[in-house]
Amino acid sequence: MRVLLFTGKGGVGKSTLAAGTAALAADSGHRTLVLSTDAAHSLADAFGVPAGPEPTEVGDLLWVQQVDAQLRFEQSWADIQRYLLTVLDVAGVDPVAAEELTVIPGAEEVLALLELRLHAASGRWDFVVVDCAPTAETLRLLALPEALGWYMERVLPVERRVVKALRPVLSKAAGVPMPTDSVFDAIERLHAELDEVRTLLTGPDSSVRLVLTPEAVVLAEARRSWTTLSLFGYRVDGVIANRVFPADGADDWRAGWVLAQDIVLAEVAESFAGLPLWRSEYRPAEPVGRVALTAMAREVYAGGDPLAVPDGDGPFRVTRTGTGAVLHLALPLVTSAEVDLARNGDELVVTVGSYRRLLTVPAGLTRHRVAGARVVGGELQVRFAETERTVGQA
Ligand SMILES: Nc1ncnc2c1ncn2[C@@H]1O[C@H](COP(=O)(O)OP(=O)(O)O)[C@@H](O)[C@H]1O
Ligand SMILES: [Mg+2]
Repeated sequence: MRVLLFTGKGGVGKSTLAAGTAALAADSGHRTLVLSTDAAHSLADAFGVPAGPEPTEVGDLLWVQQVDAQLRFEQSWADIQRYLLTVLDVAGVDPVAAEELTVIPGAEEVLALLELRLHAASGRWDFVVVDCAPTAETLRLLALPEALGWYMERVLPVERRVVKALRPVLSKAAGVPMPTDSVFDAIERLHAELDEVRTLLTGPDSSVRLVLTPEAVVLAEARRSWTTLSLFGYRVDGVIANRVFPADGADDWRAGWVLAQDIVLAEVAESFAGLPLWRSEYRPAEPVGRVALTAMAREVYAGGDPLAVPDGDGPFRVTRTGTGAVLHLALPLVTSAEVDLARNGDELVVTVGSYRRLLTVPAGLTRHRVAGARVVGGELQVRFAETERTVGQA
């Protein structure tokens, strides 16, 4: 199952291009589902048909689903939240404030992605297009299992046993309810499910497509998204510049826009050099309905295969050297000075701006030491050398 995620700033045309790409795929004979996890659902509007929280057929080989993020959130988080609320209640926290404290910003959107597990398991689809929320940044939450892996594997089971033994005593003494098995179960289940989806979305059949409009502010955000998505292991496979004014027959007003857009488009090409860059014209009317959407996508991809799996190296790989290895992590559009690297036991802590990823050091390298690191050609390279050697050479 090929999975393609669309993201970009609000209003740039994510839903429209996700819908168009899906329609084009269905036209070429692929069993296609387009689903939105963005609370601001507009897929149904784009197709001009009603669509619900379950896959709805909108035509030959084409299905639409607007995931009910709130419902998914309640299903995955309810047990854990209920427990947290009782603890906060005992602590004297005001119920309204407590409710807010137990909600993680962006969590709903990410939990909506759990839906993808079921679709992957069903074997029903060749191609799934996801219309994501504006900030791809929420995808970083999928890295939570990775960050919590150590805790989940080693600490949680112990804690669970301890709590089981102490629950009767402690609950009475402290007045704080101890988590029950159902809370531990819910945490473990959520952890496993998030991990499964992250594995799917960082795998070889998944990629992210960035949508932008030729405006400086929008470009700046798209650049940051590329860096952040790469940091967390997602592969960006191309950029679509939408709402590009056609130059032909332009009056003065439009000619002014064409000129202004050309300047930003040149910066777009430079920023995302090496990635496919597609252009999508500002159309005379809103593309609504399968026919209009397909026509739009056909023009955008101009005969190219919109589903092609990106070639080249993935965002993360390890290459062996004589005495050690080099870990490569795609990290476009940043300099060495903007990246902070630290080692914490079996983990590498990579920080870029306000984003931090805890990367597990590959099994074969845990006994090696970090001999150096640099950012070149849009990737972070971390050199590992055998511990015996004092000077690592990669
Ligand atoms: N290339 C285009 N030409 C004309 N209208 C467009 C184009 N792309 C998108 N639109 C319209 O712009 C509006 C916002 O697009 P939408 O896809 O909903 O944005 P997003 O999902 O990024 O918020 C919609 O009304 C859509 O029909
Ligand atoms: Mg949208």
